[in-house]
Amino acid sequence: MQRLEKFYEGKAKVLYSTDDPDLVIQYFKDEATAFDGKKKGIIEAKGILNNKISSRIFKYLESKGVKTHFVEMPSEREMVVKRLRIVPIEVVVRNIAAGSLSKRMGVEEGTPLKETILELYYKSDALGDPMINEYHVKAFGLAEADELRRIEAEALKVNKLLSEFFDERGIILVDFKLEFGVHKGEILLGDEVTPDGCRLWDKTTREKMDKDRFRRDLGKVEEAYREVLRKVME
Ligand code: TMP
Ligand code: ASP
Repeated sequence: MQRLEKFYEGKAKVLYSTDDPDLVIQYFKDEATAFDGKKKGIIEAKGILNNKISSRIFKYLESKGVKTHFVEMPSEREMVVKRLRIVPIEVVVRNIAAGSLSKRMGVEEGTPLKETILELYYKSDALGDPMINEYHVKAFGLAEADELRRIEAEALKVNKLLSEFFDERGIILVDFKLEFGVHKGEILLGDEVTPDGCRLWDKTTREKMDKDRFRRDLGKVEEAYREVLRKVME
């Protein structure tokens, strides 16, 4: 697989075209940002850790019938994925109140929810990813009605599978963000599933093992990501 030109650079990854028009290489960087890019930093080895964590999780999800863009991990920082037409929606699934939900609803972080919450955000860095609902998706044509139904069902399925997967490894899956895209007419889970976009708490100590350590200057960020990798490889 030949890495050709860079066609997109995001906050945590760079995308390269390849000699196969259907495949793309995601290159994972160590750069970390938070609060719409207002806070910037480096998490040592994050690119390597996230590539390995996400590859493991995509393989697990595939084994349980979730279709993802993952193809293979040819090197420590590279993931070969299927080329997607990205659906410009970020799907957040929440099992426990934390982060922006705690703020919005005025509840303490860690408050249990009676039901899982699924939220939609319009993927736009310029606008700071505003929260939207299904009406906005239809009114602005962000996805077809059946695509949205499929995406929501897949997000809830991923939540069920990953909550169990992490629970077996002593980790609580508090919340997470997913992105989807279309490849040859099929909806696939895209982007990455890593501690950058998930809240993961140690089941016994409730210690944070995710990007909140960076966002809130809690220290031991790399160590936390390393521990997540160690656990997901179990
Ligand atoms: P929030 O509580 O800040 O809304 O975040 C909910 C979850 O979504 C959390 O696990 C972090 C993830 N997330 C991202 O991956 N990217 C983002 O831009 C935001 C705001 C959240
Ligand atoms: N990744 C987003 C940013 O850079 C938000 C976050 O993860 O907190 O702003």
